[in-house]
Amino acid sequence: MYVVEGGRTLSGEVRVQGSKNSTLPILAASLLCRGESVLYNCPRLSDVEASLTILRYIGCNARREGDTVIVDTGSVTRYDIPAALMHRMRSSIIFLGAMIARFDRVRMSFPGGCELGPRPIDLHLNALREMGVEICEDHGELDCSIRDRLHGAKIALTIPSVGATENIMIAAATAKGTTIISNAAREPEITDLADYLIACGAHIAGAGESTIIIDGVERLHPAAHAIIPDRIVAATLMSAAAVTGSDIRFKSIIPSHLESVIPVFRECGCEFDISGDGMSIHTPYRLKSPKLIRTMPYPGFPTDAQAPMMSVASVGDGMTVFVENMFESRYSHVSELCRLGADIRVEGRVAVVDGVKRLLSAHVHARDLRGAAALVVAALCARGKSEVEGIEYLERGYEDFELVLSSLGAEVKKV
Ligand code: EPZ
Repeated sequence: MYVVEGGRTLSGEVRVQGSKNSTLPILAASLLCRGESVLYNCPRLSDVEASLTILRYIGCNARREGDTVIVDTGSVTRYDIPAALMHRMRSSIIFLGAMIARFDRVRMSFPGGCELGPRPIDLHLNALREMGVEICEDHGELDCSIRDRLHGAKIALTIPSVGATENIMIAAATAKGTTIISNAAREPEITDLADYLIACGAHIAGAGESTIIIDGVERLHPAAHAIIPDRIVAATLMSAAAVTGSDIRFKSIIPSHLESVIPVFRECGCEFDISGDGMSIHTPYRLKSPKLIRTMPYPGFPTDAQAPMMSVASVGDGMTVFVENMFESRYSHVSELCRLGADIRVEGRVAVVDGVKRLLSAHVHARDLRGAAALVVAALCARGKSEVEGIEYLERGYEDFELVLSSLGAEVKKV
């Protein structure tokens, strides 16, 4: 757990870690290149470790040197991912496209649901079937094989699914012919994955737009790539600054990735100085409440920032309505925020937050990654000592978060 002494103002400068949701698909995609890929700015996270474990299980060599991870996928021997590894991280489904492309075969268990509710993969499977993959689903296992060769297809996604877009892009990179993805996800992590694949010799156009065209090539070669900064960790640190009335400066941040988040903080009364790869946030003593926050696919307000933003709204001077459109149960942090003194009512996908003057310290339990982050943010502004259990969820996506917060003057200890 974290033990947080709240009520302190933060200050100083912070470097934002590399993006978890960029690192995971790129590690999977490295399977397409026989040889050593070098990934800079790779965050030290349990989800990243889980991916490296899967790569090593398959037969790759993967090692870390500080913020750099080197993956040698030259000699791989297995084409299955055991259930234990699949269940450790739901997003291991991102290995499906890469393993099919490399081995023409793959066995993996259905990724379990997770704390956000069921995590269907129908879009992934339908698309791969269009590309010539035979997929048998029995007893919770996926057994995939290819009749002759992976081939391009025109794929229209009914939802701009991030994972499905990534699996298709990876499988299409060395498939025979052209693949067109329409209604593709537009997240910056999609563009980062495309940049890595292009560096490996792939022919991809339109990443970051709703239509992506991939011309399959014979084979890819390894490449070096720097992972983009994590925009959700940045939004979380902005929330920490806002609830503590602090001014902090961010290094290694891409402000354009936060174009739907910054306006909400401005609505709260925060101001920003934005330069090339840096940004400062100045926050008012009392926050105004943002009126309405609806989570949407990028470039809309990110669902992953909903929980930390709810901690901000909890101490606003009015009322905020949240609508969580992306996942059906992403309010597990609400009951815990109420234990910290917040006034929040949930009705289905809608949460109504009535801002209070200040939060009160308490012992709370996190139940998912971004909920854990929201509780730590809230504890920073609750006077007195709070305890946040469930830090193993936080460590899936936040690197050394207690050290980052302490470096800004917060009193946070991991026990
Ligand atoms: C990615 O998950 C992220 N994870 C999530 O971040 C993020 O919340 C999500 O995108 C939305 O932005 C990674 O990148 C590793 P989706 P993903 O497929 O790909 C439905 C975090 O906190 N859907 O875009 O699983 C799905 O149920 C994590 O870092 C289908 O119905 O999300 C959801 O309602 C949490 N069928 C919606 O689409 C499918 O085949 C969006 O999901 C696939 C998805």
